[in-house]
Amino acid sequence: MPDPACPICRGSGWRVEERNGISGATRCECTVGDIQRQTLQYSGLPALYQNASLDNFDAQANPALQTVMLIVRGYAREFPNVEKPGLLLIGEPGTGKTHLAVAALRMLISRGYNGLFFDYQNLLQKIRSSYDPASGSGDREAYGTALDAEVLLLDDLGAHRITDWVEDTVTSLITHRCNHKKPIIATTNLPDHDIQSAGPRDRSAGGTDYKRSLIDQIGMRARSRLFEMCRVVRMPAQVEDYRLRKARIN
Ligand SMILES: Nc1ncnc2c1ncn2[C@@H]1O[C@H](COP(=O)(O)OP(=O)(O)OP(=O)(O)O)[C@@H](O)[C@H]1O
Ligand SMILES: [Mg+2]
Ligand SMILES: [Zn+2]
Repeated sequence: MPDPACPICRGSGWRVEERNGISGATRCECTVGDIQRQTLQYSGLPALYQNASLDNFDAQANPALQTVMLIVRGYAREFPNVEKPGLLLIGEPGTGKTHLAVAALRMLISRGYNGLFFDYQNLLQKIRSSYDPASGSGDREAYGTALDAEVLLLDDLGAHRITDWVEDTVTSLITHRCNHKKPIIATTNLPDHDIQSAGPRDRSAGGTDYKRSLIDQIGMRARSRLFEMCRVVRMPAQVEDYRLRKARIN
């Protein structure tokens, strides 16, 4: 039932959007059921991505990006009847990984799944501060929530300085979810060098041409399990940083 007081659709249940000069109507958010709406409200989506969906993802100019979008759409539609329960989006900054991951999560939520968004960095901080007896209950619950959420979106995986503690924590989180076949939708802008093909690398050299990889930042075991449980989607290399593009056009 559309909400008669909805500021977006004014109660019609349809949202009219203009894209590339063509206007089209999509179902308004307010038409989803109360439970789904509540799930969405508590999903922890950052305000910037509150409306991120496949409908407002622009892939027109790029066939490779269209393919990525189709994979994400297929995953969110077919879940849990998919080959791998999770999704891992890898690619350069600003190419739309978080947007697509959120779009998938929102689709799953609208299908009745309970989805939660966590920024990786922020989650680690919460888990760490939960050891402090003075911490709030929100921090104390963060780890358990991330372990057991029905669908977990882990955004910007690896964006934290690696320590033994970080490696252990992320490994146990991913292992737990993997063992219980609980899906993770993750994004990362770290390059993923294949272990074999990468050849010898020197982490400590600090050369300018060496960018730390996913393995460097989350550890080998977490990376391996992640690949086991997620369909890996690589953002096309030729996609321009959308943030820069927008800044240029405006
Ligand atoms: N193809 C697209 N169509 C519409 N909006 C887009 C598209 N790609 C990116 N955006 C928007 O641009 C901004 C940056 O995209 P997003 O945050 O998804 O990038 P990212 O790949 O996650 O980058 P990072 O690696 O820095 O986290 C967001 O506001 C997103 O909604
Ligand atoms: Mg992102
Ligand atoms: Zn509405």
